[in-house]
Amino acid sequence: MALLPILRFPDARLQRIARPVPAVDARIRQLAADMLETMYEAKGIGLAATQVNVHEQVIVIDISEEKNAPQVLINPQLLWASDERIKGDEGCLSVPGVYDGVERATAVRVRALDLDGKAREIEADGLLAVCIQHEMDHLKGRLFVDYLSALKRGRIRTRLLKAEREERRKTAEEAA
Ligand code: NI
Repeated sequence: MALLPILRFPDARLQRIARPVPAVDARIRQLAADMLETMYEAKGIGLAATQVNVHEQVIVIDISEEKNAPQVLINPQLLWASDERIKGDEGCLSVPGVYDGVERATAVRVRALDLDGKAREIEADGLLAVCIQHEMDHLKGRLFVDYLSALKRGRIRTRLLKAEREERRKTAEEAA
């Protein structure tokens, strides 16, 4: 198992479109295991392969309180989304420290492969439905900040670039 570096907005690689996984093999199972470890370490509830710079359709999610119910969705396809929508605050491991309101379908049905390569259908509502939509967006190169106004997104961009510069300066100082 290994912790993977998480790309941060506005890194252009977060906009890449993920391709379908050709076969659920040892490589993909290792990727999913590493993504779960990375997600738990970062205290997230979901992570898409795009965020760790792997542009294949793999998502990991765990919305349980005890962090003992990992779900892996490979090549997820949206089968249905409710007309009913709800706006709630979202955050993202690629946009650290930022939370803002995004409107999503309250319920979805998706088909995805599991780690055995078996297709299964998942019906989700509440937090899981929001999380699935958020992570599937990542695979299409879309971030939750893309739903915000250009003004807000610009401010977030500036703030994160500044934080990154600060971090780099500190690391350089520590190394000196
Ligand atoms: Ni995210």
